[in-house]
Amino acid sequence: MNELNAIVDAAKQAFTAAATPADLENAKAQFLGKTGSITELMKGMAALSVEEKKSRGAAINLVKQAVEAALTDRRQAMADAELELQLKAEAMDVSLPGRKRGQGGLHPVSLTLERIEAIFGSMGFDVAQGPEIETDWFNFTALNTPEDHPARSMHDTFYVEGGTETAPNLLRTHTSPMQIRYAVQHVKKYRALLDAGAATEGASEYVMPEIRVIAPGRTYRVDSDATHSPMFHQCEGLWIGANVNFKDLKVVFTDFCRTFFESDDLVLRFRPSFFPFTEPSAEIDIQFASGPLAGRWLEVAGSGQVHPNVVRNMGLDPEKYIGFAFGMGPDRLTMLRYGVNDLRLFFDGDIRFLSQFQ
Ligand code: PHE
Repeated sequence: MNELNAIVDAAKQAFTAAATPADLENAKAQFLGKTGSITELMKGMAALSVEEKKSRGAAINLVKQAVEAALTDRRQAMADAELELQLKAEAMDVSLPGRKRGQGGLHPVSLTLERIEAIFGSMGFDVAQGPEIETDWFNFTALNTPEDHPARSMHDTFYVEGGTETAPNLLRTHTSPMQIRYAVQHVKKYRALLDAGAATEGASEYVMPEIRVIAPGRTYRVDSDATHSPMFHQCEGLWIGANVNFKDLKVVFTDFCRTFFESDDLVLRFRPSFFPFTEPSAEIDIQFASGPLAGRWLEVAGSGQVHPNVVRNMGLDPEKYIGFAFGMGPDRLTMLRYGVNDLRLFFDGDIRFLSQFQ
């Protein structure tokens, strides 16, 4: 028996002494391997009588189980130690401040456009989008702009390859082509109703619904300094009906400006001007009653009563339909609202500047 106990003790010692899993496997072989001491004990039983085999076999089995249990314990201890090390190596400091995920936001000019759309939307204006690459017809000719008008020159307008002499493609220089595009679609829909017999032109039960739309978007001109960018934004406005007049323009635009700038004592000035597509025409200036810009007249839009030739190009009879249009600069409105003095800041993409608007 002592001999057997000695084997268990020796095994426990060898397992404890094993520093690595490989050492442990070697130690295991010494006891349980093909030539290990326990295997040798079993072999030694061949010469014994049946009776002796029984008791001796039972005793050896106990030894074997004890050695296997010691091996399992040591393996588990090694695995635990390994895990412990790994956890320590991967430990995280839960007291460190979290890494923030950068959150994007809307560009200040986009914020302005959203605001413009919301305000005009509340006044019943539709919002329309149009192409930035335009034809000469929509950008100039349909808007009553003569062939020799200086705005058509290469100095002022970006022409795009692929156009023809009669229909050059260009980057729209203003959002005014949307007056024609939108009105033509609007009139087409009305004519379809007339053709289907659903309405009778001029009949009192069905008159053409008024055209009331704004068209915000990017526009392009050959121009670049602190207050001009080759790409800038405009927002067109158009209201056409049977009896829409300059007073309506004044009311709508005054309302808009006061709401946009959240200032009820803001005043407007309509300064006579010229545009080929409006007659009469006016620049719209605003003046704040208080704040850093108080007392100064600030130009924010061009406007006017839509020229009869333009009404005709919309597919409408200028004797029956009349209205106004305006084109304002959302970039300018954004500069005024936030007190920014260099337009180029909006388009440099500097996150330090842009993040201030979130
Ligand atoms: N399209 C003009 C511009 O770009 C502005 C404008 C629009 C003027 C509509 C009158 C009517 O300056």
